[in-house]
Amino acid sequence: PRTYRICTLPGDGIGPEIIAEAKKVLAAVGARHDVEFVCTDQLIGGAAIDATTEAGGPVSALPDTTLEAARASDAVLLAAVGGPKWTNTNAGAIRPEQGLLAIRKELGLYLNLRPVRMFRALVGASSLKPELLEGVDLLIVRELTGGLYFGAHEREWGVEGAGGNGARGEFARDTMEYSEYEVERVVRWACQAASRRRGRVCSVDKANVLETSRMWREVAHAVGAEFPEVTIEDMYVDNASMQLVANPAQFDVLVTENTFGDILSDEASMLTGSLGMLASASLGDGVALYEPSHGSAPDIAGRGIANPIAQVLSVELMLRYSLGMDEAADELSAAVTRVLDEGWRTVDIADELTAADRVLGTSAMGDKIVEALG
Ligand code: NAD
Ligand code: IPM
Ligand code: MN
Repeated sequence: PRTYRICTLPGDGIGPEIIAEAKKVLAAVGARHDVEFVCTDQLIGGAAIDATTEAGGPVSALPDTTLEAARASDAVLLAAVGGPKWTNTNAGAIRPEQGLLAIRKELGLYLNLRPVRMFRALVGASSLKPELLEGVDLLIVRELTGGLYFGAHEREWGVEGAGGNGARGEFARDTMEYSEYEVERVVRWACQAASRRRGRVCSVDKANVLETSRMWREVAHAVGAEFPEVTIEDMYVDNASMQLVANPAQFDVLVTENTFGDILSDEASMLTGSLGMLASASLGDGVALYEPSHGSAPDIAGRGIANPIAQVLSVELMLRYSLGMDEAADELSAAVTRVLDEGWRTVDIADELTAADRVLGTSAMGDKIVEALG
Protein backbone atom coordinates (compact mmCIF):
# COMPACT_ATOMS: atom_id res chain seq x y z
CA PRO A 1 0.00 0.00 0.00
CA ARG A 2 0.89 3.64 -0.39
CA THR A 3 2.40 5.08 2.79
CA TYR A 4 1.94 8.54 4.27
CA ARG A 5 3.96 9.79 7.21
CA ILE A 6 1.85 11.84 9.59
CA CYS A 7 3.57 13.78 12.34
CA THR A 8 1.09 13.73 15.22
CA LEU A 9 1.30 16.32 17.98
CA PRO A 10 -0.98 15.40 20.91
CA GLY A 11 0.11 18.35 23.06
CA ASP A 12 -1.77 19.09 26.28
CA GLY A 13 -5.14 18.88 28.04
CA ILE A 14 -7.72 17.13 25.86
CA GLY A 15 -5.10 16.92 23.08
CA PRO A 16 -4.08 13.27 23.66
CA GLU A 17 -7.75 12.26 24.05
CA ILE A 18 -8.91 13.73 20.74
CA ILE A 19 -5.86 12.80 18.68
CA ALA A 20 -6.40 9.17 19.63
CA GLU A 21 -9.75 9.37 17.84
CA ALA A 22 -8.17 10.96 14.78
CA LYS A 23 -5.74 8.04 14.61
CA LYS A 24 -8.58 5.52 14.80
CA VAL A 25 -10.33 7.32 11.97
CA LEU A 26 -7.14 7.46 9.92
CA ALA A 27 -6.61 3.73 10.35
CA ALA A 28 -10.16 3.10 9.10
CA VAL A 29 -9.69 5.44 6.12
CA GLY A 30 -6.39 3.70 5.34
CA ALA A 31 -8.01 0.28 5.38
CA ARG A 32 -10.72 1.39 2.95
CA HIS A 33 -8.30 3.03 0.54
CA ASP A 34 -5.31 0.71 0.79
CA VAL A 35 -3.17 3.44 2.28
CA GLU A 36 -0.97 3.16 5.33
CA PHE A 37 -0.78 6.17 7.62
CA VAL A 38 2.29 5.98 9.78
CA CYS A 39 1.58 8.30 12.70
CA THR A 40 4.53 9.32 14.85
CA ASP A 41 3.89 11.31 18.02
CA GLN A 42 6.17 14.24 18.74
CA LEU A 43 6.33 16.68 21.62
CA ILE A 44 4.95 20.20 21.54
CA GLY A 45 3.62 22.71 24.05
CA GLY A 46 3.49 22.00 27.77
CA ALA A 47 4.35 18.34 27.17
CA ALA A 48 7.56 19.45 25.45
CA ILE A 49 8.36 21.95 28.21
CA ASP A 50 8.00 19.20 30.82
CA ALA A 51 10.06 16.66 28.85
CA THR A 52 12.87 19.08 28.08
CA THR A 53 12.90 20.32 31.69
CA GLU A 54 13.15 16.71 32.85
CA ALA A 55 16.00 16.02 30.41
CA GLY A 56 17.93 18.91 31.90
CA GLY A 57 18.84 20.46 28.54
CA PRO A 58 17.46 23.69 27.09
CA VAL A 59 13.74 24.04 27.85
CA SER A 60 11.64 24.24 24.72
CA ALA A 61 7.98 24.16 23.67
CA LEU A 62 9.09 23.03 20.21
CA PRO A 63 12.13 20.74 20.34
CA ASP A 64 14.27 20.46 17.19
CA THR A 65 13.37 16.77 16.90
CA THR A 66 9.72 17.75 16.56
CA LEU A 67 10.41 20.35 13.91
CA GLU A 68 12.61 17.94 11.95
CA ALA A 69 9.95 15.23 12.10
CA ALA A 70 7.32 17.72 10.96
CA ARG A 71 9.44 18.79 8.00
CA ALA A 72 10.06 15.17 7.00
CA SER A 73 6.36 14.24 7.12
CA ASP A 74 3.61 14.38 4.51
CA ALA A 75 1.39 16.32 6.91
CA VAL A 76 1.24 17.41 10.53
CA LEU A 77 -1.78 16.78 12.73
CA LEU A 78 -1.89 18.84 15.91
CA ALA A 79 -4.39 18.58 18.76
CA ALA A 80 -3.90 21.51 21.18
CA VAL A 81 -1.40 23.06 23.56
CA GLY A 82 -1.48 25.00 26.82
CA GLY A 83 -2.98 24.82 30.25
CA PRO A 84 -2.93 26.33 33.75
CA LYS A 85 0.15 24.33 34.72
CA TRP A 86 2.25 26.45 32.36
CA THR A 87 0.47 29.76 32.70
CA ASN A 88 3.28 31.96 33.83
CA THR A 89 3.13 35.65 33.20
CA ASN A 90 6.75 36.30 34.08
CA ALA A 91 8.58 37.99 31.26
CA GLY A 92 10.85 35.46 29.56
CA ALA A 93 9.02 32.35 30.78
CA ILE A 94 8.61 29.68 28.11
CA ARG A 95 4.95 29.09 27.34
CA PRO A 96 3.31 26.17 25.48
CA GLU A 97 1.70 28.52 22.95
CA GLN A 98 5.17 29.58 21.79
CA GLY A 99 5.64 26.06 20.44
CA LEU A 100 2.55 26.43 18.28
CA LEU A 101 3.53 29.87 17.01
CA ALA A 102 7.04 28.64 16.29
CA ILE A 103 5.93 25.65 14.24
CA ARG A 104 3.55 27.87 12.24
CA LYS A 105 6.38 30.28 11.55
CA GLU A 106 9.02 27.64 10.83
CA LEU A 107 6.78 25.79 8.36
CA GLY A 108 5.70 29.07 6.76
CA LEU A 109 2.00 28.42 7.43
CA TYR A 110 0.70 31.86 6.56
CA LEU A 111 -2.83 30.79 5.72
CA ASN A 112 -5.36 29.38 8.19
CA LEU A 113 -8.66 28.10 6.83
CA ARG A 114 -11.55 27.69 9.24
CA PRO A 115 -14.62 26.41 7.43
CA VAL A 116 -17.78 27.13 9.41
CA ARG A 117 -19.98 24.26 8.26
CA MET A 118 -23.49 23.69 9.46
CA PHE A 119 -24.64 20.19 10.21
CA ARG A 120 -28.42 20.26 9.99
CA ALA A 121 -28.71 17.96 12.97
CA LEU A 122 -26.92 20.49 15.17
CA VAL A 123 -29.13 23.50 14.53
CA GLY A 124 -30.63 23.07 18.00
CA ALA A 125 -27.19 22.98 19.62
CA SER A 126 -26.31 26.45 18.37
CA SER A 127 -26.82 29.43 20.62
CA LEU A 128 -28.53 31.22 17.71
CA LYS A 129 -32.15 30.93 16.60
CA PRO A 130 -32.58 28.23 13.92
CA GLU A 131 -33.91 30.70 11.32
CA LEU A 132 -30.63 32.64 11.45
CA LEU A 133 -28.68 29.50 10.56
CA GLU A 134 -30.52 28.87 7.31
CA GLY A 135 -27.98 28.98 4.47
CA VAL A 136 -24.92 29.47 6.68
CA ASP A 137 -21.74 28.26 4.96
CA LEU A 138 -18.74 30.46 5.47
CA LEU A 139 -15.03 30.12 5.18
CA ILE A 140 -12.81 32.15 7.45
CA VAL A 141 -9.40 32.82 5.91
CA ARG A 142 -7.10 33.98 8.66
CA GLU A 143 -3.59 35.34 8.12
CA LEU A 144 -1.43 33.23 10.44
CA THR A 145 2.20 34.31 10.56
CA GLY A 146 2.01 38.08 10.87
CA GLY A 147 0.40 40.89 12.79
CA LEU A 148 0.44 41.29 16.56
CA TYR A 149 1.44 37.68 17.10
CA PHE A 150 4.81 38.12 15.47
CA GLY A 151 5.64 41.79 16.05
CA ALA A 152 8.02 42.75 18.86
CA HIS A 153 6.70 42.00 22.35
CA GLU A 154 8.41 44.01 25.04
CA ARG A 155 8.29 44.78 28.73
CA GLU A 156 10.19 47.67 30.15
CA TRP A 157 10.45 49.26 33.51
CA GLY A 158 10.72 52.91 34.17
CA VAL A 159 9.26 54.16 30.91
CA GLU A 160 6.30 56.50 30.96
CA GLY A 161 3.57 54.97 28.81
CA ALA A 162 1.46 57.13 26.54
CA GLY A 163 -1.66 57.95 28.52
CA GLY A 164 0.16 57.18 31.73
CA ASN A 165 -0.09 59.24 34.86
CA GLY A 166 3.49 60.37 34.71
CA ALA A 167 4.62 57.89 37.35
CA ARG A 168 7.40 55.43 36.68
CA GLY A 169 6.39 51.82 36.36
CA GLU A 170 6.03 48.92 34.02
CA PHE A 171 5.35 49.37 30.36
CA ALA A 172 4.45 46.72 27.78
CA ARG A 173 4.35 46.86 24.00
CA ASP A 174 3.13 44.56 21.23
CA THR A 175 3.43 45.66 17.64
CA MET A 176 1.20 44.98 14.67
CA GLU A 177 3.06 44.87 11.40
CA TYR A 178 2.14 43.72 7.91
CA SER A 179 3.89 43.86 4.60
CA GLU A 180 1.96 44.29 1.40
CA TYR A 181 3.14 40.83 0.34
CA GLU A 182 1.74 39.16 3.46
CA VAL A 183 -1.67 40.67 2.82
CA GLU A 184 -1.63 39.95 -0.89
CA ARG A 185 -1.09 36.21 -0.62
CA VAL A 186 -3.94 35.58 1.84
CA VAL A 187 -6.40 37.84 0.01
CA ARG A 188 -5.50 36.14 -3.28
CA TRP A 189 -6.21 32.77 -1.72
CA ALA A 190 -9.52 34.06 -0.37
CA CYS A 191 -10.53 35.35 -3.82
CA GLN A 192 -9.59 32.05 -5.45
CA ALA A 193 -11.67 30.19 -2.88
CA ALA A 194 -14.59 32.57 -3.40
CA SER A 195 -14.50 32.09 -7.16
CA ARG A 196 -15.20 28.38 -6.54
CA ARG A 197 -17.91 29.21 -3.98
CA ARG A 198 -20.51 32.00 -4.02
CA GLY A 199 -18.14 34.66 -5.34
CA ARG A 200 -18.12 36.98 -2.33
CA VAL A 201 -15.22 38.07 -0.16
CA CYS A 202 -15.65 40.15 2.96
CA SER A 203 -12.36 41.68 4.04
CA VAL A 204 -12.43 42.53 7.72
CA ASP A 205 -10.24 45.27 9.15
CA LYS A 206 -10.11 48.28 11.46
CA ALA A 207 -9.13 50.82 8.82
CA ASN A 208 -10.78 53.63 10.75
CA VAL A 209 -8.03 53.30 13.35
CA LEU A 210 -5.10 51.17 12.20
CA GLU A 211 -2.48 51.91 9.55
CA THR A 212 -1.98 48.18 8.90
CA SER A 213 -5.70 47.99 8.16
CA ARG A 214 -5.64 50.92 5.76
CA MET A 215 -2.89 49.18 3.80
CA TRP A 216 -4.79 45.87 4.10
CA ARG A 217 -7.85 47.47 2.50
CA GLU A 218 -5.87 48.95 -0.41
CA VAL A 219 -4.12 45.67 -1.09
CA ALA A 220 -7.37 43.72 -0.79
CA HIS A 221 -8.96 45.84 -3.50
CA ALA A 222 -5.94 45.65 -5.79
CA VAL A 223 -5.96 41.85 -5.50
CA GLY A 224 -9.75 41.72 -5.78
CA ALA A 225 -9.51 43.51 -9.13
CA GLU A 226 -7.72 40.43 -10.52
CA PHE A 227 -10.94 38.48 -9.94
CA PRO A 228 -13.80 40.00 -11.95
CA GLU A 229 -16.09 37.14 -10.89
CA VAL A 230 -15.57 37.96 -7.20
CA THR A 231 -17.04 40.90 -5.31
CA ILE A 232 -14.96 42.20 -2.47
CA GLU A 233 -16.54 44.13 0.36
CA ASP A 234 -14.90 45.73 3.42
CA MET A 235 -16.23 45.55 6.93
CA TYR A 236 -14.93 46.90 10.21
CA VAL A 237 -14.14 44.13 12.66
CA ASP A 238 -16.48 45.39 15.38
CA ASN A 239 -19.37 45.40 12.93
CA ALA A 240 -18.29 42.00 11.56
CA SER A 241 -18.44 40.46 15.03
CA MET A 242 -22.02 41.73 15.35
CA GLN A 243 -23.03 40.68 11.80
CA LEU A 244 -21.77 37.15 12.49
CA VAL A 245 -24.49 36.64 15.08
CA ALA A 246 -27.14 38.91 13.50
CA ASN A 247 -27.04 37.64 9.90
CA PRO A 248 -24.34 34.98 9.45
CA ALA A 249 -25.76 33.71 6.14
CA GLN A 250 -24.60 36.90 4.39
CA PHE A 251 -20.98 35.73 4.48
CA ASP A 252 -19.23 33.56 1.92
CA VAL A 253 -15.47 34.01 2.41
CA LEU A 254 -14.27 36.21 5.23
CA VAL A 255 -10.60 37.20 5.09
CA THR A 256 -8.79 38.95 7.89
CA GLU A 257 -5.57 39.46 9.81
CA ASN A 258 -4.28 37.13 12.50
CA THR A 259 -5.79 38.50 15.73
CA PHE A 260 -9.17 39.41 14.25
CA GLY A 261 -9.39 35.95 12.65
CA ASP A 262 -8.59 34.26 15.95
CA ILE A 263 -11.42 36.05 17.71
CA LEU A 264 -14.02 35.94 14.94
CA SER A 265 -13.53 32.22 14.36
CA ASP A 266 -14.20 31.28 17.99
CA GLU A 267 -17.32 33.43 17.79
CA ALA A 268 -18.38 31.83 14.50
CA SER A 269 -17.91 28.34 15.93
CA MET A 270 -21.10 28.76 17.94
CA LEU A 271 -23.10 28.86 14.71
CA THR A 272 -22.17 25.18 14.34
CA GLY A 273 -23.10 24.37 17.93
CA SER A 274 -19.69 24.17 19.58
CA LEU A 275 -16.08 25.20 19.38
CA GLY A 276 -15.53 21.43 19.37
CA MET A 277 -16.85 21.32 15.78
CA LEU A 278 -14.48 23.82 14.16
CA ALA A 279 -11.59 22.32 12.20
CA SER A 280 -8.75 24.19 10.57
CA ALA A 281 -6.01 23.84 8.00
CA SER A 282 -2.80 25.85 8.28
CA LEU A 283 -1.22 26.04 4.85
CA GLY A 284 1.95 27.44 3.36
CA ASP A 285 4.23 26.45 0.53
CA GLY A 286 5.50 23.21 2.10
CA VAL A 287 4.24 20.70 4.66
CA ALA A 288 0.84 21.74 6.06
CA LEU A 289 -0.58 21.44 9.56
CA TYR A 290 -4.13 20.54 10.56
CA GLU A 291 -5.55 21.52 13.91
CA PRO A 292 -8.89 22.06 15.59
CA SER A 293 -9.60 25.74 16.18
CA HIS A 294 -10.12 25.17 19.88
CA GLY A 295 -7.57 24.83 22.65
CA SER A 296 -6.65 22.21 25.21
CA ALA A 297 -9.90 22.71 27.20
CA PRO A 298 -8.30 22.28 30.64
CA ASP A 299 -11.75 22.50 32.26
CA ILE A 300 -12.74 19.11 30.81
CA ALA A 301 -9.35 17.47 30.22
CA GLY A 302 -8.90 13.89 31.46
CA ARG A 303 -12.64 13.22 31.72
CA GLY A 304 -13.13 11.53 28.36
CA ILE A 305 -15.94 13.87 27.33
CA ALA A 306 -14.25 16.20 24.82
CA ASN A 307 -15.74 16.40 21.34
CA PRO A 308 -13.28 14.84 18.88
CA ILE A 309 -15.12 16.08 15.77
CA ALA A 310 -13.07 19.26 15.17
CA GLN A 311 -10.01 17.00 15.23
CA VAL A 312 -11.63 14.45 12.91
CA LEU A 313 -12.74 17.18 10.49
CA SER A 314 -9.14 18.44 10.56
CA VAL A 315 -8.19 14.97 9.29
CA GLU A 316 -10.74 15.49 6.52
CA LEU A 317 -9.01 18.74 5.55
CA MET A 318 -5.65 16.94 5.62
CA LEU A 319 -6.92 14.24 3.26
CA ARG A 320 -8.16 16.97 0.92
CA TYR A 321 -5.40 19.56 0.98
CA SER A 322 -2.23 17.55 1.63
CA LEU A 323 -2.89 14.01 0.44
CA GLY A 324 -5.14 14.50 -2.58
CA MET A 325 -7.61 11.97 -1.13
CA ASP A 326 -10.80 13.85 -1.94
CA GLU A 327 -12.98 10.79 -2.10
CA ALA A 328 -11.82 9.66 1.35
CA ALA A 329 -12.42 13.19 2.65
CA ASP A 330 -15.98 13.15 1.27
CA GLU A 331 -16.61 9.78 2.90
CA LEU A 332 -15.34 11.04 6.24
CA SER A 333 -17.51 14.11 6.07
CA ALA A 334 -20.52 11.92 5.19
CA ALA A 335 -19.71 9.61 8.11
CA VAL A 336 -19.70 12.51 10.58
CA THR A 337 -22.97 13.79 9.11
CA ARG A 338 -24.55 10.35 9.44
CA VAL A 339 -23.48 9.98 13.09
CA LEU A 340 -24.97 13.37 13.92
CA ASP A 341 -28.14 12.67 11.93
CA GLU A 342 -28.58 9.49 13.95
CA GLY A 343 -28.62 11.66 17.05
CA TRP A 344 -25.25 10.77 18.57
CA ARG A 345 -23.71 13.65 20.53
CA THR A 346 -20.92 14.60 22.85
CA VAL A 347 -22.06 16.77 25.77
CA ASP A 348 -21.06 20.06 24.17
CA ILE A 349 -23.42 19.50 21.22
CA ALA A 350 -26.26 17.82 23.10
CA ASP A 351 -29.46 19.80 23.59
CA GLU A 352 -32.73 19.31 25.45
CA LEU A 353 -33.99 17.02 22.66
CA THR A 354 -30.99 14.68 22.88
CA ALA A 355 -31.81 11.30 24.39
CA ALA A 356 -29.60 10.65 27.42
CA ASP A 357 -28.39 7.35 25.94
CA ARG A 358 -27.17 9.12 22.79
CA VAL A 359 -24.63 11.25 24.66
CA LEU A 360 -21.21 9.71 24.08
CA GLY A 361 -17.73 10.15 25.44
CA THR A 362 -14.75 11.05 23.26
CA SER A 363 -13.74 7.49 22.45
CA ALA A 364 -17.27 6.22 21.80
CA MET A 365 -17.83 9.12 19.41
CA GLY A 366 -14.64 8.16 17.55
CA ASP A 367 -15.90 4.57 17.35
CA LYS A 368 -19.26 5.73 15.94
CA ILE A 369 -17.51 7.69 13.20
CA VAL A 370 -15.36 4.68 12.33
CA GLU A 371 -18.48 2.50 12.27
CA ALA A 372 -20.24 4.98 9.98
CA LEU A 373 -17.27 4.89 7.61
CA GLY A 374 -18.17 1.25 7.04
P1 NAD B 1 -10.33 26.33 24.78
O1 NAD B 1 -10.62 26.39 23.33
O2 NAD B 1 -9.37 25.32 25.23
O3 NAD B 1 -11.71 26.11 25.57
C1 NAD B 1 -12.78 27.06 25.55
C2 NAD B 1 -14.07 26.37 25.99
O4 NAD B 1 -14.50 25.48 24.95
C3 NAD B 1 -13.92 25.52 27.24
O5 NAD B 1 -15.10 25.60 27.98
C4 NAD B 1 -13.73 24.11 26.69
O6 NAD B 1 -14.17 23.09 27.56
C5 NAD B 1 -14.59 24.16 25.43
N1 NAD B 1 -14.05 23.25 24.40
C6 NAD B 1 -12.97 23.47 23.62
N2 NAD B 1 -12.74 22.42 22.84
C7 NAD B 1 -13.70 21.51 23.11
C8 NAD B 1 -14.00 20.22 22.63
N3 NAD B 1 -13.26 19.64 21.68
N4 NAD B 1 -15.06 19.57 23.16
C9 NAD B 1 -15.82 20.14 24.10
N5 NAD B 1 -15.59 21.35 24.60
C10 NAD B 1 -14.54 22.04 24.12
O7 NAD B 1 -9.87 27.79 25.20
P2 NAD B 1 -9.26 28.34 26.59
O8 NAD B 1 -9.87 27.64 27.73
O9 NAD B 1 -9.35 29.78 26.49
O10 NAD B 1 -7.72 27.95 26.51
C11 NAD B 1 -7.16 26.81 27.12
C12 NAD B 1 -5.73 26.64 26.68
O11 NAD B 1 -5.69 26.27 25.30
C13 NAD B 1 -4.88 27.90 26.78
O12 NAD B 1 -3.61 27.55 27.23
C14 NAD B 1 -4.82 28.41 25.35
O13 NAD B 1 -3.67 29.17 25.09
C15 NAD B 1 -4.80 27.12 24.60
N6 NAD B 1 -5.24 27.18 23.21
C16 NAD B 1 -4.55 26.39 22.33
C17 NAD B 1 -4.96 26.31 21.02
C18 NAD B 1 -4.21 25.40 20.10
O14 NAD B 1 -3.39 24.63 20.54
N7 NAD B 1 -4.47 25.45 18.79
C19 NAD B 1 -6.08 27.02 20.59
C20 NAD B 1 -6.75 27.83 21.52
C21 NAD B 1 -6.33 27.89 22.83
C1 IPM C 1 -5.75 29.31 17.84
C2 IPM C 1 -5.18 29.56 19.21
C3 IPM C 1 -3.77 30.10 19.11
C4 IPM C 1 -3.85 31.40 18.33
C5 IPM C 1 -3.03 30.32 20.44
C6 IPM C 1 -3.03 29.10 21.30
C7 IPM C 1 -1.64 30.80 20.21
O1 IPM C 1 -6.00 30.42 19.93
O2 IPM C 1 -5.17 28.51 17.08
O3 IPM C 1 -6.79 29.88 17.52
O4 IPM C 1 -4.20 32.43 18.91
O5 IPM C 1 -3.58 31.38 17.13
MN1 MN D 1 -7.89 30.85 18.98
